[in-house]
Amino acid sequence: MPVTLFHPLAAENRADPYPTYARLRETAPVAWSSAPVPGFWGFWFVSRHADVSAGLKDNRFGREIARLLPPEALPPVPAHERPLMAMISHWMLFKDPPDHGRLRRLAAPVFAPRAVAGQRPAIERLAARMVDQLPAGTVVDMVGEFAYPLAIDVVSDLLGVPEGDRPLIRDWVRAITAALDVIRTEESIRIGAERAVELSAYFADLVEMHRRQPRGDLLDLLIEARDQDGRLSEEELLSACILFLFAGHEASAQLVANGLLALSEAPEAHARLRAGQVEMPLAVAELLRFTSPQQIAFRYALEDAELGGTMIRKGQTVGFGLGAANRDPRVFPDPDRLDFGREAARQLAFGAGIHSCIGAPLARIEAEATFALLARRLPRLDVAALERQDGVIVRGLARLDLRL
Ligand code: HEM
Repeated sequence: MPVTLFHPLAAENRADPYPTYARLRETAPVAWSSAPVPGFWGFWFVSRHADVSAGLKDNRFGREIARLLPPEALPPVPAHERPLMAMISHWMLFKDPPDHGRLRRLAAPVFAPRAVAGQRPAIERLAARMVDQLPAGTVVDMVGEFAYPLAIDVVSDLLGVPEGDRPLIRDWVRAITAALDVIRTEESIRIGAERAVELSAYFADLVEMHRRQPRGDLLDLLIEARDQDGRLSEEELLSACILFLFAGHEASAQLVANGLLALSEAPEAHARLRAGQVEMPLAVAELLRFTSPQQIAFRYALEDAELGGTMIRKGQTVGFGLGAANRDPRVFPDPDRLDFGREAARQLAFGAGIHSCIGAPLARIEAEATFALLARRLPRLDVAALERQDGVIVRGLARLDLRL
């Protein structure tokens, strides 16, 4: 077994992995990584931009380990985890071609830049209404009171979830998200699996309502694919709804949370944003680069493959370091500085290759609308307290208290 050079769960890396990434990029760009957690397999951690970008586009690295290894070689899935695993097994995120392409093509029209551009005014209204509701003159947790509700509501709109059901949806989705991180407990898995069953049942009812009364949203498009020519099974339809909620809310919310914190620590960049001296698409690209809400994209080697000078064996796990790549000085000079003057177009926060974020055009609009609004409405970012969220895949905040 190779020597472990990256301990993702070590306290210093949980607090701030960037110094470790910088060292790895220079000394061990493809480094063995492990942690003493049951079910946490070791993996090769890739930290240079060129290797992360190339590896994510390389079809020798895929997602379906089950196709590769006999069932007995895989760790057994405990009974309480099975409903969750059954659901995510239908997600495009965990599929290789050809299933991946079939599932992705069905949803692609809804996420095309031209299609989501029409949602900008609705997102602006939603964000403004939420800011209006924040109590002035007090300390407010912007993560719980703003970033998460906004992100979940944007995807809920896309799926046609009625407004009254949103609080319920938020609780279900957060529980499922907690059950899917690398750091998870028996309890969080059990609760996540229960919520997955409940959320599937909820969407089964919503699908029936949409069948009777279509509204021209994402859900209708998926229902049409299911009903008219059987391109989607009923389980795939229901689990796709949950995938969009899951994939669409966490990183979007954490871009807002991490972004607010980063701006509070970079007064010069914040002043430029407030003064309207930065074009919002450029500002969002730099915030994505700098904060990288999703830090790692995992794959399995489907065959023996050399990457960055290291031989990766068939069946081994590879973690492509999106956050590490986004601070690679070979591509981004002075990478640890939030700088709205830089060219950040090559940032990899949305991944790369066939799984690169399908929601990226929507996420960009959401972030542009939100940061433009907050620059006007919260010109002073006065952090009263903050708490990091524990996670290996998503790096973010559990709370960010601002004095309003
Ligand atoms: C700032 C916000 C967001 C970030 C940083 C982000 C990041 C990512 C990344 C890195 C991936 C690739 C994962 C991998 O390769 O393993 C991904 C995939 C995906 N994202 Fe996003 N995402 C964001 C917002 C959204 C939104 C708003 C939606 C939908 C409403 C969405 C839906 C998806 C889906 C469905 C996939 C899987 C695509 C596939 O497997 O082909 N994401 N996202």
